[in-house]
Amino acid sequence: MANTKLIVLAFSLYIMLLPFVFDLANAQGLTSGFYNLSCPSAEKLVKTMTEKFVAHAPSFAPSLLRLHFHDCFVRGCDASVLVNSTSNNTAEKDSIPNLTLRGFQIIDAIKSALEKQCPGVVSCADIVALVARDAVTAIGGPTWPVLTGRRDGTKSLATDALTELPAPTMNITQLKANFASVGLSVKDLAVLSGGHTIGISHCTSFAIRLYNFTGKNDSDPSLHPNYVALLKKQCPLTTLLTSIVEMDPGSFRTFDTHYYSVVGRRKGMFTSDGALLTDSTTLAYVQAQASPQSSTFLTDFGQSMMNMGKIGVLTGTSGTIRNQCAIIN
Ligand code: HEM
Repeated sequence: MANTKLIVLAFSLYIMLLPFVFDLANAQGLTSGFYNLSCPSAEKLVKTMTEKFVAHAPSFAPSLLRLHFHDCFVRGCDASVLVNSTSNNTAEKDSIPNLTLRGFQIIDAIKSALEKQCPGVVSCADIVALVARDAVTAIGGPTWPVLTGRRDGTKSLATDALTELPAPTMNITQLKANFASVGLSVKDLAVLSGGHTIGISHCTSFAIRLYNFTGKNDSDPSLHPNYVALLKKQCPLTTLLTSIVEMDPGSFRTFDTHYYSVVGRRKGMFTSDGALLTDSTTLAYVQAQASPQSSTFLTDFGQSMMNMGKIGVLTGTSGTIRNQCAIIN
């Protein structure tokens, strides 16, 4: 009799705790195939349209990857980076680090195609996450599962982007603290920095390392002198404001491990890239990726992108589904 009572008690406890166990399994409410019933063609449409845009203009692939990063690090992956400023609010989009973002029109075009098929269903935040993956895959990079079910934020403040995005001038202590503040690990920092294997930078983002590192018209001694010379050629003072350079020289269109061999040779473009050599964990990661045969970068990247895609997500009844990504309903 006592045994039966114990079993009934244990069973009731199990039933009571089930929702919590389930919640944990479904980290923060994101799931695989969130739109399978509500908009079955959503993921396919995003993929097809992204592939078309990227085939037409491959330089958008890195920009679309960066868009997702800049979204997630500020107020979480809630599409707040897509919102336009209004007469009484300066939005994230118009903050200094975001002035070099590109690809907003691609997200808007995909959103409007989805609105025609399934009005008010697919969030801009999910579109940004899916497009980042599909764009990287489209140029021959890795793929990874993108969980969906994010909802869109209702606030976007330029000041948040200034305080929450990591700056290219950051040292390793600042970078680790910045990543930790959004729940990402030191390994995520080493892996996601590898996103710089593709794309371009404006000379203004690192010019201080070339021309005025300590205020004495000097260059950063941690940057390889040959690379300083090359970058000075590509970024002459006369056209500093308008020039752009490849971030992973010789391989900036290919998603590969080349970034890590460049960084290992003290040729990382930003202070933040070079900083990976100044911590034992990140240094070990850089060194381990130097040989493409034994590199784990491509699979690590997918895992770290999944971690990044969960930052501060709004799910369930939080947030909203915007009608247009650039405008808060
Ligand atoms: C670790 C901290 C990071 C810093 C300080 C940083 C900084 C920068 C800067 C300054 C640029 C050049 C912007 C310009 O002048 O046009 C850039 C470009 C880029 N970043 Fe990062 N970044 C970081 C992490 C990441 C992460 C986590 C990703 C993606 C996973 C990423 C992906 C990219 C890509 C793809 C570009 C090239 C964009 C294009 O070609 O349009 N970055 N980053």
